[in-house]
Amino acid sequence: MIIAVDGPAASGKGTIARALAGHFDLPHLDTGLLYRAVGLSVLRHGGDPAHEIDALRACGFSDAMLHDPDIRCEAASKAASVVSAHPAVRTKLLQRQLDFASQPGGAVLDGRDIGTVIAPAADAKLFVTATPDIRAKRRFAQLVGEGSHVAYDHVLTDILDRDARDSGRDAAPLRQADDAVLVDTSAMGIAEAVAEAIRLVETRRT
Ligand code: C5P
Repeated sequence: MIIAVDGPAASGKGTIARALAGHFDLPHLDTGLLYRAVGLSVLRHGGDPAHEIDALRACGFSDAMLHDPDIRCEAASKAASVVSAHPAVRTKLLQRQLDFASQPGGAVLDGRDIGTVIAPAADAKLFVTATPDIRAKRRFAQLVGEGSHVAYDHVLTDILDRDARDSGRDAAPLRQADDAVLVDTSAMGIAEAVAEAIRLVETRRT
């Protein structure tokens, strides 16, 4: 079974995808990590994420980069959303995602274009979202919890900028696939959102 989970930043899609993978005993790929690795790699080499050549060069990142704690930082998030708008970067990262999705037994992938581009024939597709304000509050609480001194307004602006870039780009923009089920987690806690996602996948499966 292939499960596609898409949605904007801090919507809860990563948590839901991990929980689905655990519940259905499937391997999980957080595809955002691939774009983050490219973005972080560009920054570390002093390049410009907006320059396609710099971004393309960074696509040869080492797998160790995927486990680098800096990959979650806000600079890497922003760089990821800039490099991911280059069609050539998306092409470079495509095969790895296709291979993961087509492994025997299936997989759970989360990202922005899983249901639309990477696994259009997925058995179950969820589009996880929440209002920008709720998502910014979640990200803010997470950053404060990690000891960051960051202003809420700054976090909200970052989220809105990332939404605009991810939804507005020409190459595989963030959008709900026609056959994806919407899961709005605005008023849900983690346990409720996960339970709802499992329920939805179960109904799509039968
Ligand atoms: O999911 P995450 O926030 O880690 O993704 C970081 C960035 O990578 C996103 O803002 C988006 O620009 C890009 N991305 C993408 N396609 C995916 C996954 C992530 O363009 N499938």
